[in-house]
Amino acid sequence: LTLCIPCDSVARAVGADDLATALAREAGQRKLPLEIKRTSSRGLYWLEPLLELESAEGRLGFGPVAPEDVPSLLDALQGDASSHPLALGPVEELPYLKSQQRLLFARAGITRPLSLDDYRAHGGFEGLARAIGLSGDDIVTAVLDSGLRGRGGAAFPAGIKWRTVRGAAAAQKYVVCNADEGDSGTFADRMLMEGDPFLLIEGMAIAGLAVGATLGYIYVRSEYPQSVDNLRAAIGIAREAGYLGANVGGSGRAFDLDVRVGAGAYICGEETALLDSLEGKRGVVRAKPPLPALQGLFGLPTLVHNVLTLASVPVILARGAQFYRDFGMGRSLGTMPFQLAGNIRHGGLVERAFGLTLRELVEGYGGGTASGRPLKAAQVGGPLGAWVPPSQFDTPLDYEAFAAMGAMLGHGGVVVADDTLDMAHMARFALQFCAEESCGKCTPCRIGSTRGVEVVDRLIAATDITAREEQALLLKDLCDTMTYGSLCALGGMTAFPVTSALKHFPADFGLETSEAD
Ligand code: NAI
Ligand code: SF4
Repeated sequence: LTLCIPCDSVARAVGADDLATALAREAGQRKLPLEIKRTSSRGLYWLEPLLELESAEGRLGFGPVAPEDVPSLLDALQGDASSHPLALGPVEELPYLKSQQRLLFARAGITRPLSLDDYRAHGGFEGLARAIGLSGDDIVTAVLDSGLRGRGGAAFPAGIKWRTVRGAAAAQKYVVCNADEGDSGTFADRMLMEGDPFLLIEGMAIAGLAVGATLGYIYVRSEYPQSVDNLRAAIGIAREAGYLGANVGGSGRAFDLDVRVGAGAYICGEETALLDSLEGKRGVVRAKPPLPALQGLFGLPTLVHNVLTLASVPVILARGAQFYRDFGMGRSLGTMPFQLAGNIRHGGLVERAFGLTLRELVEGYGGGTASGRPLKAAQVGGPLGAWVPPSQFDTPLDYEAFAAMGAMLGHGGVVVADDTLDMAHMARFALQFCAEESCGKCTPCRIGSTRGVEVVDRLIAATDITAREEQALLLKDLCDTMTYGSLCALGGMTAFPVTSALKHFPADFGLETSEAD
C-alpha cells in the first residue's frame, strides 16, 4: 500500500503527523507493507488531514482522518476502500478541485516538496531550460506578452518592471522575493514555499537570467518556519544539481539565492521597508521615486516581486505567453490562487482564471458560512481591503471590476463573515491595526490612525443621531486625509475597510438601516 499524507503546516496543525505515526504503527503490528509519502497539500483545508491511497484509478481520498480512524481505515484499504465512511472517491474528481485551473499549484498535493525527481517528473525546470535558450530581452518579452501583473496586490505589469531592471546599468543587480505574506486570510505564498519550493527557485533563476542579476534573496516572515526550512533545503538541493550557482543549468551564467527571515512587522511587506530590513535596518518606508527597480537593495537595481508573481514565470516560459494570457479577462490575465478563510465551510485554496464571481467563490466553493448563519460580508484583499456585501457578490474577480466598486483584489485573500460580525468593531480594528503597524514616517498614518480609533469610539458611544452623524462625517474626512496624504499603502488603504463598513452597514454604527437588514 502506498499512502500520501500532506506535510504542509496546516495539515500538521490538525494532526497529519500523528496520523502518519498511527498508520505506520498499526501497519507494523499487522505486518502490512506500507509506504507513506509526505506530499504537499491540495489546499482543500477543511478535509485535512487528507489521506490519499495510490491506486490504479488514481489517488483515492479519505478525510478528515483522525488517528482513531486508522484501524477501520486499514481494514477497508485491504478490502473495499470505497466502503469506508471517510472515503471521498478519486481526489481529482472532487468538484472543488476538478473545476480549478491550477497552473501555479499544479503539483499541490501530488509531489513531495523536497523531491527533485518529483518536481522534474511534473514539468519542473522546463521553464528554466527554455529561458536558457533565450536572450534576456526575449525572456522579458515573454513576461510582458503574458500579461502577468504583480500578485502581491498592486497588480503592476511585471514585464515593465523586468524591462526597467534589465535596462538599468549596474555592476550588481538583485532579485528580491517578497515572502512577507502578512494579509489576514492569506496563505498561498506559504503553501507554495512549503509545498513546491523548487518552483519559486526556478522562477527566481529565470528572473535573474532575464534582468542580469546574479543574486537573489527570499525575505520570509518569521511566522513561516517551515517555509524557511524547506526553502533553505531546496536551495541546497538545487545548487547541488546545478540549477543555482556559477553556471545555472549549464547556461554559463551565475545566479544564487539566500533566505532572510523577517522579524514580525507587517510594514516589512511594503517593498521599500523590506529592502531596509534586508539591509539590516529597521523597516521604514522609503519615498518613491527612486523606484527599487533602479535603486533598490543597497541602492542597486532590484527586481522585487511577490512569491506568486515569480512562481508564475516558469509556466509562462514553458508553455508560452499566449497559453498564459488565454486565461482571465480584460487586463487581469492568467490565474489567481484565491484563498478562502474566516467563517467559511470549505476554507482552502481555489486557483482559477480571473473572472469568476465572488459569489461562485464564497457560496460555490466555500459553501457559505461555517456557522450556517447568513453571510454578512467578505473582506477581500487583506486587513485593508474593503468589506463587500452580498449584494455585490456577482462582481467578477478582476482587478478593474473591483477597483470600480471601491474595493481591491489584493493578494486574493477572502475572509468571510456571518451576520453576527459587528462592522463598527471591524472599522475600529482596521484603524487600530494601522496604528500598531504604522512605520511612523508620515503624519496621516501615524497620527490619523490613532485619532481614527478615538473617533470610532466616540461614534459608537454617542447617544443621539446628530452626534453620531457628526462623528461619521469626521471619520470620512479623516479617511480622505489618510488616503490622499499617506506615503504608502498601509496608511493609504486603511480607509477601505472603514468607509466600506460605514457605507454598507450604517446600522452597525447606529446610523440608519444597513443594506443587509
Ligand atoms: P505600487 O503601485 O506603488 O507599486 C507596485 C510595484 O510596481 C512596486 O514594486 C513598484 O516598485 C513597481 N513600479 C511602479 N511603477 C513602476 C515603473 N514605472 N517601473 C518599474 N516598476 C514600477 O504598490 P505597492 O505600494 O508596492 O503595493 C501596494 C499593494 O500591496 C496593495 O495594493 C496591497 O494589495 C498589497 N499588499 C499586500 C500584502 C501581502 O501580504 N501580499 C500586504 C499589504 C499590502
Ligand atoms: Fe509609514 Fe504609515 Fe506613512 Fe506607510 S503610510 S510610510 S506605514 S507612516
